[in-house]
Amino acid sequence: MATKKKQAVKKDAAVKVALLGFGTVGSSVARVLAKQRFQGIELTQIFNRNVARKRASDAAKWVPGSVKWTENVDEILRSDVDVVIELTGGLNPTESWIRKALASGKSVVTANKQLIAYRGASLQRLATEHHVHLVHGAAVAGGVPVIPGILQGLGGDRVTRLSGIVNGTCNYILSRMESGADYATVLADAQQLGYAEADPSADVDGYDARAKLCILSRIAMHAELDPDAVATQTISTVEAVDFSYAKELNSTIRQISRAQVEGSLVHARVAPMLVPLASPLAWSHGTLNMVVASGEFGGDVVFSGHGAGGEPTAVAVVSDLLAVAQGCKTVELPVRKRQVTGDFMAPHYLRFVVDDRPGIVSGISGALAKVSVNIDSLLQRRGYPKHRLPFVVTTEACLTSTVEKALVSIAKMDCMLERPLCLQMLETEDKGE
Ligand SMILES: NC(=O)c1ccc[n+]([C@@H]2O[C@H](COP(=O)([O-])OP(=O)(O)OC[C@H]3O[C@@H](n4cnc5c(N)ncnc54)[C@H](OP(=O)(O)O)[C@@H]3O)[C@@H](O)[C@H]2O)c1
Repeated sequence: MATKKKQAVKKDAAVKVALLGFGTVGSSVARVLAKQRFQGIELTQIFNRNVARKRASDAAKWVPGSVKWTENVDEILRSDVDVVIELTGGLNPTESWIRKALASGKSVVTANKQLIAYRGASLQRLATEHHVHLVHGAAVAGGVPVIPGILQGLGGDRVTRLSGIVNGTCNYILSRMESGADYATVLADAQQLGYAEADPSADVDGYDARAKLCILSRIAMHAELDPDAVATQTISTVEAVDFSYAKELNSTIRQISRAQVEGSLVHARVAPMLVPLASPLAWSHGTLNMVVASGEFGGDVVFSGHGAGGEPTAVAVVSDLLAVAQGCKTVELPVRKRQVTGDFMAPHYLRFVVDDRPGIVSGISGALAKVSVNIDSLLQRRGYPKHRLPFVVTTEACLTSTVEKALVSIAKMDCMLERPLCLQMLETEDKGE
């Protein structure tokens, strides 16, 4: 715990707050503050580019007349505000603003997952050094209190495993594909509904989720991971047929972010995976987020809810602000840099699309046997044309890297029409059941 040389926030006097960014979440924060009228909290300044446009917006009607709007962030960083709420997003120049704010004795509340994933540990050290707070409860799952829940509710446990659905866009796409829709149609719907960006790769290729997984690993398992070292796998290669085969295996498919500590190593991966229908993770549909934290002493705890959007996220931001204003203690987590591997010991689901001919199964089983991987089952549904036949092999538990080695030679077989799809299969005892 940090020795406080000075109060993080002043006693008695109102806590002065500045907002950086008046977009979806920033304007919702202003509205929540105006409607809730918390005693002792005063919004004094708002920074955004092109302030005239923001002041003319409907959202600005919730901003008290006493608030000073500015396009110059230094005015805020040099001012006497106690708390800076950062809601502009991005790494640059945001990081330098937050560093200046912390170094000048201001606490910072942010919802910026990229910044916290890449710079969270060093910013936290800076905050501790200056006896102020850096709080980021909205950075994972928006309004669902996963981060405060883990920090305050599970701080006494030793969390060794995390798994979750932390990207609402992917969950919307995959849970709709469960009922037979194809990927391209559902992605187009998601874009129209505003759930997916015009360039969806941050979501569907797993980069958004891995930033969140790194944040969760730091606060829950005290493991500092390099987000770029965390293995990701796109959901865009999952097809409707995979849901049919998954169902035969009493499973469905979700984008899962999982991390597990083993000695000095952290196994971490963001990928579409087979999830048993009995798992709570299989029950999450649409944009629902869910995180299962598994502790050595307390067992599994599940956090779940629809957290995204301006107002739910603003609730998390304002709750962080209240915690800071109430003088929450600054606790420095004993975080250690950890090596990371995407390898997990798990059964795997392998889907092949072939131009059918004799010898295919023996070719596949031979390649798997060569790396000592045992086949558990072979599934072939009727009704597909022989010249484009999708079928599935499941393996017994083995390392992902081992099965991937066999797939390199299997992919070269003449009959293969597509790159084989390889998905880890979560087992019932893996998560939260
Ligand atoms: N929206 C959600 O559901 C949600 C959920 C969880 C976390 N978050 C996080 O919350 C943060 C804010 O998200 P948001 O959805 O509110 O984004 P947003 O709607 O794009 O708002 C960002 C605001 O910051 C302003 N801004 C950005 N860069 C700036 C710069 N360099 N100088 C001055 N002003 C700048 C933007 O101005 P312009 O209007 O001119 O672009 C805009 O008003 C992000 O870190 C995001 O990841 C959002």
